[in-house]
Amino acid sequence: MIKHMPNLLDFSKQELKEIIDLGIDIKKEPEKYRDSMKDKTLVMWFEKSSLRTRVSFETGATRLGGHAIYLDASTTHTKKANLSDEVKCLSRYADIMMARVFDHETIATFQEASSVPIINALCDKFHPCQALADMMTIFETIKNPEDATIAYIGDGNNVCNSLIIAAKTLGIKINVAAPKSLEPDYVPDFLTENPQEAVSNADFVYTDTWVSMGDEEKKEKKMHALKEFQVNETLLGNRFFMHCLPAIRGQEVTDKVIESEKSLVYEQAENRMHIQKAIMLTLLTWK
Ligand code: CP
Ligand code: NVA
Repeated sequence: MIKHMPNLLDFSKQELKEIIDLGIDIKKEPEKYRDSMKDKTLVMWFEKSSLRTRVSFETGATRLGGHAIYLDASTTHTKKANLSDEVKCLSRYADIMMARVFDHETIATFQEASSVPIINALCDKFHPCQALADMMTIFETIKNPEDATIAYIGDGNNVCNSLIIAAKTLGIKINVAAPKSLEPDYVPDFLTENPQEAVSNADFVYTDTWVSMGDEEKKEKKMHALKEFQVNETLLGNRFFMHCLPAIRGQEVTDKVIESEKSLVYEQAENRMHIQKAIMLTLLTWK
């Protein structure tokens, strides 16, 4: 049976925990896994730009003994070709694929056409690899993650949706503070328009860019709606700070917060590589 990862909705608590535990083990003992993707090829399909996702998947595949191929719109036939035809061809070469796309429906097209597992590497609705790296970071940071509370402050976007799904599946509490017009698609444990209220019982404060890729036309509206949602030192207090990066310093977060001792942002970025190794190995061996 092929298992895809379009989002995290089809994964149980047990399955998510196994992927996180595998990510933690791979990080501790990378040598143990150095040939686990031997002779396997990951195809990476990008409709949008990236730094972390591209490099962490590519180095991840290499360090597992596999190979990764980067494809983007400018050097392929995306404008004229039928996407299903292209994916059918790709899945005859590749053992596993990841796709970063504008529209979540494109992930469904990939899944329907592909004979190998498809991983969503960000779309307008979800960012599952990020959420799993974030959960791994939380599991590494505190002893009892199931007693933790995350407060997400800002745009109820793709990162926020996946964070809610991952946290709720794993039994971690999640509060969201977002303007009414920018609420997430999934229901957190607590939803408010007041950032102070959301962080009051939180251990981790998370934010993301106010204008996501593909949202450029809504920039002015979003900037206006979100101007009271900046994570600054006063809001953060003594809590841990999280951000998927790239951050727009001076907008959703201040320099001091991102550089503070409580900032986990570079751990999150590093963990993208470990968790994506775990995701690839899990989907490649799914029975
Ligand atoms: N966090 C993240 O997905 O970063 P990139 O857009 O640089 O890949
Ligand atoms: N919400 C952001 C995340 C970037 C990693 C975006 O979609 O652009």
